[in-house]
Amino acid sequence: MKAVIFDLDGVICFTDRYHYKAWKEIADEIRVPFDEATNNRMRGVSRMASLEILLEGADRSFSATEKEALAERKNGIYAALLDEMSPSDLSDEVRDTLRELRKRGLLLAIGSSSRNTKKILGKLGLSDFFDAVSDGTNITRSKPDPEVFLKAAEMLRISPKEALVVEDAAAGIEAANAGGFASAGLGEAAVQPLVTHPLAHFSDLLQLV
Ligand code: G6P
Ligand code: MG
Repeated sequence: MKAVIFDLDGVICFTDRYHYKAWKEIADEIRVPFDEATNNRMRGVSRMASLEILLEGADRSFSATEKEALAERKNGIYAALLDEMSPSDLSDEVRDTLRELRKRGLLLAIGSSSRNTKKILGKLGLSDFFDAVSDGTNITRSKPDPEVFLKAAEMLRISPKEALVVEDAAAGIEAANAGGFASAGLGEAAVQPLVTHPLAHFSDLLQLV
């Protein structure tokens, strides 16, 4: 194993909770049901694909312009929550594990569908930490398509067989598998049929590499 490619939201930081809060506000506004199960289906998928999942519960259809406006408003709420983040939002467990992996000589990258990736890394004080950042700004298809991880591997100049993908989303585990990567799954990703290594804690990664 030469490299570890990390999903961001729900793996490196708890921004998945902010996604939930922001979508909940939009859901209440347009009166569609929203719960944890729906939120879990949005993990790893793009902003627009997440909105489509939300709108499955709507009793009318929405025009493309309305959808654009809703997605933009959701992102405004989400971005305001991100503005409050600081390096103290990086847990000791994640920070120490990343440092130890780096000490062991592994290449470390981000593979996230989020277009807010660079902003979040900046808030956490991680702007210059990773060897490669592949995110929602350099892909055309979001997870479960493997594109974001394949681009990360390309940036690191390694093959999928040489990297481990760390994920909290079912779509992320599917993407890793489709790209030929081994995966480590946290939370609901730990119980996906295609996951290579179910993890109870982020720091358990140190036992795998
Ligand atoms: C990550 C999250 C998803 C989110 C997507 C797009 O993959 O897990 O829940 O929809 O990023 O995020 P963005 O910040 O671009 O709206
Ligand atoms: Mg995630």
